[in-house]
Amino acid sequence: MSKKPYYITTPIYYPSGNPHIGHCYTTVACDSIARYRRMQGYDVMFLTGTDEHGLKIEQKAAEAGITPKEYVDDIVLNFKKLWSFMNISYDRYIRTTDNYHIETVQKIFKALYDKGYIYKGEYTGKYCTPCESFWTESQLDENGCCPECHREVTEAKEEAYFLKMSPFAERIEKLLTETDYLQPKTRATELVNNFIKPGLEDLCVSRTTFKWGIPVTFDDKHVVYVWIDALSNYITALGFWNGEYNDYDKFWPADVHMVAKDIMRFHAIIWPAMLMALDLPLPKHLAVHGWITFNGQKMSKSLGNVVDPFILGERYGADSIRYHILREMALGADSSFSNEIMINRINSDLANGLGNLVSRTVAMVGKYFDGTLIKDRQEGEFDSELKEAVISLKAKVDDFIDKTQLNNALAEIFKVVSRANKYIDETAPWLLAKDEANKARLATVLYNLLEAIRVTTSLLSAFMPTTMPKVWEQIGCTGDDTVYENADKFGALPADVTVKKGEILFPRIDVDKEIEELNAIIGNLAEEEQEPEIEVTPLADEITIDDFAKVDLRVALVKSCEKVKKSKKLLCLQLDDGMGGRQVVSGIAQWYAPEDLIGKKVLVVANLKPVKLCGVESNGMICAADMPDGSCKVIFPDMDLPCGAKAR
Ligand code: MSP
Repeated sequence: MSKKPYYITTPIYYPSGNPHIGHCYTTVACDSIARYRRMQGYDVMFLTGTDEHGLKIEQKAAEAGITPKEYVDDIVLNFKKLWSFMNISYDRYIRTTDNYHIETVQKIFKALYDKGYIYKGEYTGKYCTPCESFWTESQLDENGCCPECHREVTEAKEEAYFLKMSPFAERIEKLLTETDYLQPKTRATELVNNFIKPGLEDLCVSRTTFKWGIPVTFDDKHVVYVWIDALSNYITALGFWNGEYNDYDKFWPADVHMVAKDIMRFHAIIWPAMLMALDLPLPKHLAVHGWITFNGQKMSKSLGNVVDPFILGERYGADSIRYHILREMALGADSSFSNEIMINRINSDLANGLGNLVSRTVAMVGKYFDGTLIKDRQEGEFDSELKEAVISLKAKVDDFIDKTQLNNALAEIFKVVSRANKYIDETAPWLLAKDEANKARLATVLYNLLEAIRVTTSLLSAFMPTTMPKVWEQIGCTGDDTVYENADKFGALPADVTVKKGEILFPRIDVDKEIEELNAIIGNLAEEEQEPEIEVTPLADEITIDDFAKVDLRVALVKSCEKVKKSKKLLCLQLDDGMGGRQVVSGIAQWYAPEDLIGKKVLVVANLKPVKLCGVESNGMICAADMPDGSCKVIFPDMDLPCGAKAR
């Protein structure tokens, strides 16, 4: 039977500077999904690449005194080196300077012109060179600068070609609001309100002010706008209108394009419009994630706050970095990067959690059975609970993969790891070992642990592909027993399995020492990350424990969130508080966009008397900390805390 095709793409990256941790997120996330789909039996095409044209690159190359192609060739090597270091299993790598891509983009541009969707006009507007984006006056930030990078924009006026957008407005609005194309769906409102409702403007799709782009074949003063060039990669790389590949019919439409929020508009509006104009099917899903931030700002080369994944990967292993960034980022929200949080997570989840589970289990099989379990069995207390958790795990992970919620998939797997560690404490094998009569029970306990390890690591291998095979070697997996088909079965390992003690999978890291060393390496970057010195506000009057007990603090999940109309400060949040839900209005709109909060857990003062703010009822208050600059930061509790849990 032929396998079902599955096509997943990352954005193609600008090789204007070396890659950083921010770039790694999408690629590692797509890689994990691609690996998971392969395990599920799909015929996967995983595409990534580089977007190599544009003014920024032309300028950088000129500064370096080399040609743009020489400039990008060098950086593309670093991207490829990083992907190999991070164990990224892409099936195809596209460079927009590849000849087949250039020729196809020229054909696409001409076809759109011939169909009457592209026409010649004149462009006047604000242009941000680092972001390669034109902005309308109303889109600029409060200082009249680029809304993305907050740098100065320049007035630009040029003869240009335009892509008609209005013929597609209605279909695009429906795509965003009535289908599940966009994930998370909550972002659709923002796009529809900001870009579609005010009237979708025609898009300027050619440039005459620089040369480093794909020439328009029928008007050689013009080069094709980088975004038309870049977005086309998703089909040119399959062989659409070119002879380089022959995979278009098999893989198009894509199953998932994954992108970060800053390029959502291009993928949610412009790309569908291009495809509609070409009469081609639309991709099935667009998964949009937030940014990895550093001190509250997007980590990016142009902001100068990048963290080097090579340095971190070499110290902790690529799998630990993969795990950390995937576990931290909830789809739709930003995730703030901190070395300290990363190291603590590696210690708690990987060293103490999974690593410990494997080493303790393997050591006990070695110690009590000389490495090979006996076949006798004796079921006992706690077995069924552990088995149930193990067997039901695969379906939960499948579901989260379908929803591109990788952090939740990992959280589920690690719940089972914790369950298994707890099972060791509950069954106390070291006590069983004291009496020869308990041999069968002891073998059963250790076998159950090995099975829990087999299943969790089978599923984890999509996320941490380097380390899991090392675990399999230790727990005596022979091959077939780690396959995905066996991940919802208990008992795949042979009853008399033989284990093999191996290296420590995730050595414990000394947090203080490590932070000190990283500070020295990353210098001022890490230092910036230290707690800001703040003038501490004097303590309020003393209260008794009874006074405090009157405040009912609860953990709640932000299910949806929107700006309160006519207010610049207020956001209205719908919370799952474990008690049927509630609406809370919070004055944090200056610092948080709704999508920064949706999907996160917050602490809410739940017994506060309801009030109306700007006419909207608020039932409680979101806890936040005051910052020295007058802003405030919401306190996000651990995502594992259940909704409704009382905080003290
Ligand atoms: N070349 C365009 C994409 C064209 S796709 C047809 C581009 N390139 S980029 O290199 O600037 O960014 C590529 C992706 O990396 C984008 O989704 C971008 O948002 C993402 N990230 C860059 N920095 C990031 C973080 N700090 N955090 C998470 N993702 C980030 O845009």
